[in-house]
Amino acid sequence: FTAPGTGWLAKLGPPGALAVGLLKVAGVGAARRGPELPQVAGSLAAGDAIFLPLYDHFLKHGGVFRLNLGPKSFVIVSDPDIAKHILRDNSKAYSKGILAEILEFVMGTGLIPADGEVWRVRRRAIVPSLHQKFVTEMIGLFGKASDRLCQKLDKAALDGADVEMESLFSRLTLDVIGKAVFNYDFDSLSYDNGMVEAVYITLREAEMRSTAPIPTWKIPIWKDISPRQRKVNEALVLINNVLDELISTCKRMVDEEDLQFHEEYMNEQDPSILRFLLASGEDVSSKQLRDDLMTMLIAGHETSAAVLTWTFYLLSKCPKVMSKLQAEVDDVLGDGLPTIEDVKKLKYTTRVINESLRLYPQPPVLIRRSLEDDMLGEYPIGRGEDIFISIWNLHRCPKHWDDADVFSPERWPLDGPNPNETNQKFSYLPFGGGPRKCVGDMFATFENVVATAMLVKRFDFQMAPGAPPVEMTTGATIHTTKGLNMTVSRRTKPPVIPI
Ligand code: HEM
Repeated sequence: FTAPGTGWLAKLGPPGALAVGLLKVAGVGAARRGPELPQVAGSLAAGDAIFLPLYDHFLKHGGVFRLNLGPKSFVIVSDPDIAKHILRDNSKAYSKGILAEILEFVMGTGLIPADGEVWRVRRRAIVPSLHQKFVTEMIGLFGKASDRLCQKLDKAALDGADVEMESLFSRLTLDVIGKAVFNYDFDSLSYDNGMVEAVYITLREAEMRSTAPIPTWKIPIWKDISPRQRKVNEALVLINNVLDELISTCKRMVDEEDLQFHEEYMNEQDPSILRFLLASGEDVSSKQLRDDLMTMLIAGHETSAAVLTWTFYLLSKCPKVMSKLQAEVDDVLGDGLPTIEDVKKLKYTTRVINESLRLYPQPPVLIRRSLEDDMLGEYPIGRGEDIFISIWNLHRCPKHWDDADVFSPERWPLDGPNPNETNQKFSYLPFGGGPRKCVGDMFATFENVVATAMLVKRFDFQMAPGAPPVEMTTGATIHTTKGLNMTVSRRTKPPVIPI
């Protein structure tokens, strides 16, 4: 899931320009069936948000080119038809490549890194668990968690203190996903406990591994003596123990339940995905279940937190959009928590999220490795090529989008279809596309709509005076470099004027 920085260079497969030339002389490789990919020599500094230089290369060299970085090379795709070919039409010819290697320590063979038969079996088991009834039930959970955040912000509004919203969004979405996936209350908005810390240690490690120049964690002795690695191992042991405990408790509950499993099975006391998976009676090892739960925890946590962070950043820059959004929310939401009927009426709020995902896709780059020779448009590629599909480039292509860099929720008609990769012909794919498309797209959209609506109903948000400029850096998703520091103030409702 990670959009890598520089460390992955060490893990990349095929050789750069020089070696490609040598192979060509020897009559081997991809030079056989068509023109050679345009070649670009690049360099990256550690800590670079990789998708930014890739955008400049895309404008100069087009929708598909080979980027040579020292002795390594990889193929950058920013063309919708080629993205469709890789992700959907010929998806069997591609694996997750380096992504699986980087994430193995935390996700094992969970759904995101898994390939082949393991992926097929787990996907078939997991997709049904996110059925309509479950997602509708989750709206209550989104509302309760967002309300807890509102209460926290009430205090800041009263004190006049600045708030760092990025970390609060991260806690909000951690609380939501823990409860939704395995019925665990992190309660990270209230306080830090060992589990919350363990999750953050693990996440930061995954990001570090994707950007580190040398994979020190693979060195046998270092692994045992490095304080950092010891901390990571301890965090993983804690998380695994808690997950094992949750799995066995849930198994007991399922055994005791007078179970009638059906397509939309949901236990009212515990509507979690874990409960569904166990109740479905599928024969799955505890280790595989743990990998799946951990995968969903990470997939559903950082992504939604990043969407909220960049949505509020964009809103703070566009008061007109904010006013229109608040007008809709005031109109639709009552005093209680939002219901599914409310969410369906929050059409402009949904467009705000759609548009935020266009400008700040999470993750900004998808990763694949070719398993066989293939054609990308007119260009042949060989087996073992590492490929980055730049969603950032697709979503900001000036040929495809009017005012590509402008935040304009109005570009999506309110009564039009919900924009997705199919109706936008792979020029817009915030949740990916093809067989590996996100399983949590509906869940995440509702979560972001509910949180945004509840927050802007209660508060006005402004960038804090003197806050550092908001810049981007790449982790698993797009982070800010120094946080999103804002001031919040309670909104006073406009007076009701009697007619
Ligand atoms: C896959 C985006 C929320 C679970 C993906 C992919 C994208 C994505 C782009 C495709 C990755 C690829 O093709 O390499 C997002 C965004 C989210 C979000 C932007 C929030 C706004 C969630 C949530 C869950 C989830 C809430 C779980 C409840 C997954 C899983 C996969 C995935 C399991 C892997 C599917 C597979 O490989 O078969 N997501 N996601 N995501 N997502 Fe999400």
